[in-house]
Amino acid sequence: MRNCYPACLLVFLFSITIHRSLPAQSVTRGPYLQSQGPNSIIIRWRTDSLTDSRVYYGDTLGATTFFKDSTTLTTEHRVLLTGLTPLTKYYYSIGSSSQILRGNDSLLYFKTAPDSNSHVPVRFWAIGDFGHGNQAQADVRESYLRYAQKTKPADLQLWLGDNVYQDGTDAEYQSKVFDTVYGYGNLFPYLPFASTSGNHDYNSICPWQDANGLPVLCNINPNNHTGPYLSLIDPPTQGELGGVASGRKIFYSMDYGDIHFVFLNSELGSYNNAYNWTGVLNNSSSFTSPMLDWLKADLQATTKKWKVVIWHQCPYSAQDNFTEENSVQIFCVATRHHFNPIIEQYGADLVLTGHDHNFQRSYLINGHYGGKSSFTSSMMINGSSGKEDLGEPYVKYVNGPLAGKGTVYVVAGNSSGSNAYSPFNHPAIYYGQACDTCFGSFVFDVQGDRLDGYYLTSTDSVYDYFTILKQTWSSLGEDNVAARNIHIYPNPTSGNTEITYSVTTAGKVSIEVLNIHGQVVSYVSAVNSQPGNYREIIDFSNPCLSSGTYTVRINCGGELIYKRIVKAG
Ligand SMILES: [Fe+2]
Repeated sequence: MRNCYPACLLVFLFSITIHRSLPAQSVTRGPYLQSQGPNSIIIRWRTDSLTDSRVYYGDTLGATTFFKDSTTLTTEHRVLLTGLTPLTKYYYSIGSSSQILRGNDSLLYFKTAPDSNSHVPVRFWAIGDFGHGNQAQADVRESYLRYAQKTKPADLQLWLGDNVYQDGTDAEYQSKVFDTVYGYGNLFPYLPFASTSGNHDYNSICPWQDANGLPVLCNINPNNHTGPYLSLIDPPTQGELGGVASGRKIFYSMDYGDIHFVFLNSELGSYNNAYNWTGVLNNSSSFTSPMLDWLKADLQATTKKWKVVIWHQCPYSAQDNFTEENSVQIFCVATRHHFNPIIEQYGADLVLTGHDHNFQRSYLINGHYGGKSSFTSSMMINGSSGKEDLGEPYVKYVNGPLAGKGTVYVVAGNSSGSNAYSPFNHPAIYYGQACDTCFGSFVFDVQGDRLDGYYLTSTDSVYDYFTILKQTWSSLGEDNVAARNIHIYPNPTSGNTEITYSVTTAGKVSIEVLNIHGQVVSYVSAVNSQPGNYREIIDFSNPCLSSGTYTVRINCGGELIYKRIVKAG
């Protein structure tokens, strides 16, 4: 108030009068939760007229005695709460300094994230291509809610892009995402979300389609991208929640418990090299961009046990030539060419994408950066089902010759739209479901050294699941085992399939194939193998072997190892 002359004082008094005479507001969007950390969270909401912002909060229902204000008059409210306790449930209410608009009840609450030293179980719910505003979207949501009630709820919702259709407008987000009929308006007050953008979100940021529906490329500097999607999200851009600061909402990273999440942007394609940060139509092995440089620095810096990368456009698909080198899906191809080598180099465990409107899940693979025909057995780190109950969990070693090798790629793009595809034929893909009425989402749990993933359909079925275990090489006791590093390829097969293995200590090795009744139908070898790498061929074209599931039993110096193999029809 120093040097406040009468005119200034008049303005000040007028502003107080305005403030006190503000009409009653109504909340038109939210509240919703962003940047959920161990000690902080951002609460957002929209009102129909200007007001200041206040959040009351506390860890006891009915006693939300703390409050945080933002004095700016706005309809887009954003309040950052800090000084919170990790893994704690807080109740809250929202409004202005003069009235509470929502809350002070059991519907508005949030739970803070675990701190970096806590290794508690955490769950994530990923949805892709979900914003059609249709019954399928609601069915997928309700299926998740029933599953959560039977098991446990997710700590964080993950958006895999194409978060709304058709053009990523604010009105579309309002009616298809923040609504309570088809969207998540009833979930957002307690379930935070973290997100990436897809091509449809980008139609209101930098269009990818011309008036005739043909692909075009953006010609705006990514640093200047703005639009409804980027306005509604509030991710950690400065490394507030772990990771290297990206300085941008368009891509960023954050830690959650034992996981380091990286949210990339597959939509940054341009004919202008300076703006082509995804690298579409660029086949140079020396391609780089600000996003790629940041990714390298970010993954190199993290010490988290698990690394999960999220973007929209899928690098692999079993659908026809969807992601082939000559495909029109140039963004899918670019992510595979330029980004997969980096995320695999730094040991990413799981990559979540959408874009293709179906569900697909790969084997544990490494080093596949071209089309289907370029896939080789050396890229198959584990070609089994990944199902622990079949004795086939994926193992990622933290040391030894396979240290950090192996990534599972998931396409979860049928959370509101679904397309059938013709023959399922990508050698890197273990499972897929696609039909005109096949909808679902992807749930995954992380606890300590294990990650469990589940494909949950809109009809309450878990049609696919897998487990990744982190193990040290020595924990296998390989000194007492004759053979390791076993790969079976191709699998499924209808002809010759190759079994490769390494022998580290001389010993007898035999390989048998058993049918579902446990009968040996093929006996491959029984030799005293000296240390080295070996390769055997099993011929499944024999008409006496009917199509179906077989078990390969490998006797390594007395220890039995089982692998499943499928003969395709
Ligand atoms: Fe898409």
